[in-house]
Amino acid sequence: MKLISPSLLSADFGNLQRDIEMLNASECDWLHVDVMDGIFVPNISFGQPIVKHIKKYAKKPLDVHLMIMDPGRYVEDFKNAGADILTIHYEACHHHDRVLHAIHDAGMKGGVVLNPSSPVSLLEDIIQECDLVLLMSVNPGFGGQKFIENTYAKVRQLRALCDRKHLECLIEVDGGVNLQNASLLFEAGADVLVAGNAVFKSDDPTATIHQMKQ
Ligand code: DX5
Ligand code: ZN
Repeated sequence: MKLISPSLLSADFGNLQRDIEMLNASECDWLHVDVMDGIFVPNISFGQPIVKHIKKYAKKPLDVHLMIMDPGRYVEDFKNAGADILTIHYEACHHHDRVLHAIHDAGMKGGVVLNPSSPVSLLEDIIQECDLVLLMSVNPGFGGQKFIENTYAKVRQLRALCDRKHLECLIEVDGGVNLQNASLLFEAGADVLVAGNAVFKSDDPTATIHQMKQ
């Protein structure tokens, strides 16, 4: 699969409706929504009220990436705000199995996120509960950072793990994705690419999304 999930963190927050309508009309598949708490990551982005406004205009699934400690506390809240897909950081949560069940019970797709320094082997006993796994290719917290090259190897390891267990879990990559590395990531086995700056800071975001999908 070759899906693109543009990250609204790089959108113009003063013109969110305009930017969401641009994405609605583009070939992108999901809208990536980065929620940060200033504790798990150094930055604070936005919470449920903004997600609710995004939902009002979005015509595509909201792919909500929770960069918050103890994310199980907010599963219902983000469901009510309009999340379709909810991902939780392995490093921010003690009870992955319980939280993934809560996400599914609430009617959302769910997955685990790994920081760049967290090995794929951590997923051995939880991947069967994941609809997707998100591999961070930068240290989470900010848009516009440089892609970490070790990610290609992790994508291949994760693909091998899914194959070995006969699982159809999607592989998503987030951070520093651009027109140069997108095709290499798809080739390595990624299914979904998140792109913030590469889309929103380009001269023609719609064309950039089109090119990324090629
Ligand atoms: C970083 C976020 C990313 C970020 C990606 O913590 O999870 O989704 O918005 O931005 P770029 O594509 O600019 O690296
Ligand atoms: Zn993200």
